[in-house]
Amino acid sequence: MSAKGKLTFIEFDGVYRNSEVWINGHYLGKRPYGYSTFEYELTSHLIYGGGPNVIAVKVDNSQQPNSRWYSGSGIYRNVWLTTLDPVHVERWGTYWTTPEVNNLWATVVFKTRVDNGSNSVVPVNLTTIIQDANGREVARATTKEVAAKDSHAEATQTLKVPTPMLWSDERPYLYKIVSQLDQGGRIVDRYETPLGIRTFRFDVTRGFFLNGKPVKIRGVCDHHDLGALGAAVNTRAIERQLQMLKDMGVNGIRTSHNPPAPELLELADRMGFIVMDEAFDMWKIAKTKFDYHLDWDEWHKRDLEDMVLRDRNHPSVIIWSIGNEVMEQWDKNPTGGTIAKELGAIVRNLDPTRPITSACNGVSRDNKVLTEGDLDLVGTNYAHGRLPEFAKMFPGRAIIGTETNSSVHTRGSYRMPSDEILRWPRKDEDIMKISPIYECSAYDNSTANWGSAHEETWKLVKNHDFFSGMFIWTGWDYIGEPTPFPWPAISSYFGIIDLAGFPKDPFYFYQSEWTNTPMLHVFPHWNWKQGEKVDLVAYYNNADEVELFLNGRSQGTKRKEGGDMHVFWRLAYEPGVLNAVSRKNGRVVLTKEVRTASEPARIVLEPDRKMIKADGADLSFVTVKVVDKDGTVAPMADNLVKFEVTGAGSIVGVDNGHQIDHEGFKGKQRKAFHGLALAIVQAKQKRGQIVLKATADNLPSASVVINAR
Ligand code: GAL
Repeated sequence: MSAKGKLTFIEFDGVYRNSEVWINGHYLGKRPYGYSTFEYELTSHLIYGGGPNVIAVKVDNSQQPNSRWYSGSGIYRNVWLTTLDPVHVERWGTYWTTPEVNNLWATVVFKTRVDNGSNSVVPVNLTTIIQDANGREVARATTKEVAAKDSHAEATQTLKVPTPMLWSDERPYLYKIVSQLDQGGRIVDRYETPLGIRTFRFDVTRGFFLNGKPVKIRGVCDHHDLGALGAAVNTRAIERQLQMLKDMGVNGIRTSHNPPAPELLELADRMGFIVMDEAFDMWKIAKTKFDYHLDWDEWHKRDLEDMVLRDRNHPSVIIWSIGNEVMEQWDKNPTGGTIAKELGAIVRNLDPTRPITSACNGVSRDNKVLTEGDLDLVGTNYAHGRLPEFAKMFPGRAIIGTETNSSVHTRGSYRMPSDEILRWPRKDEDIMKISPIYECSAYDNSTANWGSAHEETWKLVKNHDFFSGMFIWTGWDYIGEPTPFPWPAISSYFGIIDLAGFPKDPFYFYQSEWTNTPMLHVFPHWNWKQGEKVDLVAYYNNADEVELFLNGRSQGTKRKEGGDMHVFWRLAYEPGVLNAVSRKNGRVVLTKEVRTASEPARIVLEPDRKMIKADGADLSFVTVKVVDKDGTVAPMADNLVKFEVTGAGSIVGVDNGHQIDHEGFKGKQRKAFHGLALAIVQAKQKRGQIVLKATADNLPSASVVINAR
């Protein structure tokens, strides 16, 4: 430790669960909630000039169950060691608001808390500089002599940004606020805060407005795990998740049901997502025996305050959620309303600029949280059939679908007829009768008992302006909660993207509705029994119609009719080639081909990136395809593929998206599932080539080169 005269802090972004921390045998404290970011000061306990200094962290996650999903365990997010001058900007000590935004300027009111950890009154000046996205200074303010002795001084400055560029989901323009503290010209601290200038409001009848324009929130809920990488945070893995969601047309993320890793919010700021930042899955009443309800009384205020303080400078954060389906909603003793009011006040005290909601199921006038909770936004989970009634049920209040759908799918699995929706039963015997192989259909015709198909709900949300938007359960599959199946199913079926990152067909449904880039998706695969009746579905946009040809013969031209969002054909199977052609005003927009695959003949490796950073963290996600001699993915292929890596990287995860596959995520082999598997390659901290080789019995081996720079 060379930081004598400085202050030293350690920050943990999340330790699951019940962490206790010591420095050199001195107890620093305890933090039960595994999702909170917290900090300890180390300064007075450090050994200078020699060391070693020992930080010990104890985690006790032994009391199970304490979560309804896979939480991970231990130090699963980043840890930061910071040294600061005794006079410094307090951690989370800045806060911007933009009370006035117009074409000519934006007023930024900026508060800065300065800590003086020295024993004297120090004349320190605070200079705040706003830089545009290119680093050019656009506004500056200086306040003289802000810090008094041993105090937390607060300075409020008002700055004007001329002709502001606005932050939005489509164009997430970011400024940066740099806070500088100087003592007689010597800079003693520099602190950065992201700034996104935007206005928003939730209108009771017309929904959500961003920068004056109506925007439907097209959101997804996601848990925090990263599939085969587990719960351990990795920025590139989160970025890939968000990028795929963007490609699908998603513009909103709900951090169900806990504060996310800070990296997710940094990415959401940069990539343009409207975030509903959520604090808790339970309050005082348990959902699982050993969950956070045990810590509620002592910790909820602190944990909620810390979430708001940490996250309130992210322009992407637009809604605070204080809870998900809490049991207090229907409590006879009206705790639901009382607790919601208390939590709302905690949040408003630190940030009065964003609306507060709580995700409520059992949406009715009897719901105490909704009726007595004093919340800004009515947050409804499911009950999509009653959506048209909601406005009447809660007159004068803005409404958002905090959680919708819970449709369930297995990638590559199809139950016909495609136009018959199965609401999965809840009893294991009935479930196993329907699918003894633990698969749900990917036709968008399979939902949880309380849920709805994607097309059903989106039609309603799209056509009801008062409904600000929805957060679909879920964007990605996650580890745990394999509804509708019991063990040995181990990962969820709710995702629109499977656990390995392969889109299920509803991904293209949303693309057709939520994006403007021309697309055409025809499914399922074309390997069936001779003569069997097969439903072919097409999702498309930017076109009037789609014509389908089987082995060159037209099977008819179809148009979306009467509000439908897809077209379909029922054909007798014969092997060969299907060709789909979408047309607008008679001119071809896109064509798509689906071929019958013959026997698996080789492996194809497709890295998402061939060039990655040699920083010991960056990843290349390599899609492994088992294809026939002509390169068509063999839709039933389940070959066991073995991996080997040489050079400047290693394999850190394997997967295939199959919800009952128990092969280790950390292994070096994986069976293909419906023809696909995934290998995740991580760079070491050295430059060079990484060679990934894949082998499988009776197939020639394949390899691919990734460069780490
Ligand atoms: C909801 C709940 C989610 C998840 C989902 C599955 O009721 O809020 O956490 O369990 O059901 O359908």
